[in-house]
Amino acid sequence: MPDAQPRPAPVLSPGQVRPGPFAEAGRDAFAGKVALVTGSESGIGRETARALCRQGAAVVLNGRNAQRLAQTRQEFEAAGFAVTSCVADVTDYAACEELIAAALEAFGQLDILVTNASISQRAYFADMRPEVFRQVLDSNVYGTVYPLKAALPHLTRARGSVTFISSISALNGMPSGSAYCAGKAAVANLAHTLRLELAHTGIHFGVVHIGFTQNDPDKRVLDAAGQPVPIAHRPPRWQKSQAEVAAIILDHIRRRRQRTVISTLGRLIVLIHTYLPRLGDWIVLTTTRRLRHFYE
Ligand SMILES: NC(=O)c1ccc[n+]([C@@H]2O[C@H](COP(=O)([O-])OP(=O)(O)OC[C@H]3O[C@@H](n4cnc5c(N)ncnc54)[C@H](OP(=O)(O)O)[C@@H]3O)[C@@H](O)[C@H]2O)c1
Repeated sequence: MPDAQPRPAPVLSPGQVRPGPFAEAGRDAFAGKVALVTGSESGIGRETARALCRQGAAVVLNGRNAQRLAQTRQEFEAAGFAVTSCVADVTDYAACEELIAAALEAFGQLDILVTNASISQRAYFADMRPEVFRQVLDSNVYGTVYPLKAALPHLTRARGSVTFISSISALNGMPSGSAYCAGKAAVANLAHTLRLELAHTGIHFGVVHIGFTQNDPDKRVLDAAGQPVPIAHRPPRWQKSQAEVAAIILDHIRRRRQRTVISTLGRLIVLIHTYLPRLGDWIVLTTTRRLRHFYE
């Protein structure tokens, strides 16, 4: 039953999944489902987790920062959502096994995995320390592979859904984003390969290529030396809100889409990259010279 009053988080025993209390009539598409969103203590991951809760899912929150994760969990619990959380670095396979175990212990099943956790960069390849390149690449590639590997038997049992969060920058090259773009492109190909290799499981493998989105004020990316720095300035009128992006991700999961490219700019990049790649390169090179702050 929908419940408009905030209340403490429901205590669920293993195997018991209760629809989120805020699911409105006609908006309970995820009732009875359990979703894990990696990197959901902040940003787009947090808003995707919130949207899943609102549409009836029980959700497992994750991140590396225990304090921030606890704050997000408390906020969700105060809203009456069915939620649990687990601190885990998704580039560590053993930690991913613990993360999946925590999901099963809380809710008894796992139906939906959204691999959202990621570190981005603001650094040119020539300046980047090799270990920083690796850190950014690992967070995007192994931060996708490891939670999926640990979750696969449970997702197979559920004929579940896996969504890799990628970027429109995976669709072409972006100066100052070498490791990030390479990682985001890798997961797009991985989704395609797994869709073929694991077709018999009935699991949905999809990719969402996100475009410019509003960021949490404290979002940080890595510079060439691996220091956290604010993200480069992007014109606000080009940015979608995190809630808008979350709604598109939920639509993608519900429809079990193979690929979703967010924003008109993203779809334009796909068209130009496919049919007029030299024009695409010319645009990037020109804007690199004229709009340096956009990349740096
Ligand atoms: N914002 C945009 O404009 C944009 C555009 C295209 C694509 N995207 C993609 O959308 C997703 C979310 O981006 P966002 O803007 O919301 O970024 P964000 O605010 O930095 O959120 C990323 C989350 O991932 C967590 N995280 C990072 N590394 C982790 C790890 N190894 N293990 C566990 N958690 C980890 C971070 O928390 P801790 O660091 O505290 O662990 C944070 O909660 C990312 O995949 C990003 O690449 C965003």
